[in-house]
Amino acid sequence: MTLSFYIHIPYCIKRCGYCDFNTYTPAELGQGEVGRSEISSRYMSSVQREILRAAKELQTKQLPQITTIFFGGGTPSLMDPLDIARTIAKIDEIFSLTKDCEITLEANPDTLNEMNVAGFAEAGVNRISLGVQSANQKVLATLDRTHKNSNVQRALELAVQNGIKGRSIDLIYGTPGESVAALEESLDFALSLPIDHVSAYALIVELGTRLARQVASGEIATPDDDEMADKYRIIDERFNQAGFHWYELSNWANSLDARSRHNQVYWNGGDWWGVGPGAHSHLDGKRWWNIKNPISYMNALDNDLTIIAGEETLSESAKSDERIMLGIRLREGIARDELKKIQEEVVARYIASEAVDQSAWDMGRLTLTLKGRLIADRIVRDLVL
Ligand SMILES: C[S@@+](CC[C@H](N)C(=O)[O-])C[C@H]1O[C@@H](n2cnc3c(N)ncnc32)[C@H](O)[C@@H]1O
Ligand code: SF4
Repeated sequence: MTLSFYIHIPYCIKRCGYCDFNTYTPAELGQGEVGRSEISSRYMSSVQREILRAAKELQTKQLPQITTIFFGGGTPSLMDPLDIARTIAKIDEIFSLTKDCEITLEANPDTLNEMNVAGFAEAGVNRISLGVQSANQKVLATLDRTHKNSNVQRALELAVQNGIKGRSIDLIYGTPGESVAALEESLDFALSLPIDHVSAYALIVELGTRLARQVASGEIATPDDDEMADKYRIIDERFNQAGFHWYELSNWANSLDARSRHNQVYWNGGDWWGVGPGAHSHLDGKRWWNIKNPISYMNALDNDLTIIAGEETLSESAKSDERIMLGIRLREGIARDELKKIQEEVVARYIASEAVDQSAWDMGRLTLTLKGRLIADRIVRDLVL
């Protein structure tokens, strides 16, 4: 048996106006006066406590080897590299890492410098995922981002110099006011960087965010579906020309090896333990999730109390729906024999409209064409409802 660890870091220096992730500024948590290294050491000690709990929980079986670790956020690059090193060492000591264990750290360009990049590499981080979003100054301002393009270049150069082999960036497209020229500017910039992977997400206007309030008040307008589809086509074409091929709807890599192994565990229904406030876990069809507030999470661990906020065991039909929802987003798609007769009829309709690949279907797989990728959500709804 193998397992992956997701380790949530719930801190950011400033909240971006579009983001509703479970993340906080130290001031929001009443830790405004506490130094950054103290915050890191206190929080990462709690993380290590949860890792010990995971080991106890799994002890009845032979402890699994760890194939991937993903420090996600929030902003994991705010943590002290020594705390990241201790956490990785703890996991290795208790569970043991596979020799080629993929260890990713999400980073904000403003938080990386010569010292900490060297420290993260030394700790064992071999993949970095950098939040870039756009290279256009107006779009960056609408998104509330604080970084400059030069910080992105510098951060990735440091990753290269320190031998961090996996280098990915996140882009966001469809920001209100983003022209096609501004998108092209971001793509030119992205493709000039020393990266092997890119994630490009359509901007989601999340309820409760500053962006949602600006949209509701009419201050800014969101793009329509046609504009989003045009932008997706442009992104896919530019990446293809540069040798980056899609392997999941929002993810492109320039080699098989550069694909995110951690994310593939999620998409293929594998097992992972999510450590940290609000983190979700999945083991053998059972899911659970932790309490959301970081301070309550740390206090519960300190006092030997439960950190679990909820759990569910997936029924066979829920598992099958989930396989469809995730699998359809993958280049490899879904095996035809996973589908029921009634779902095959839905597929036939989409083959007729050229959203599903006829020849792959004839060979036993449901995979989407470019046209299908643009309406993947609609196809999923028709298949699982
Ligand atoms: C944890 S952040 C990445 C690291 C770091 N916190 C940063 O932002 O630089 C994960 C990514 O989620 C994406 N994201 C967050 N909120 C989003 C939204 N409302 N719509 C689309 N993408 C979003 C962004 O691309 C972001 O880089
Ligand atoms: S996008 Fe990244 S930096 Fe911005 S608030 Fe979300 S997690 Fe923090």
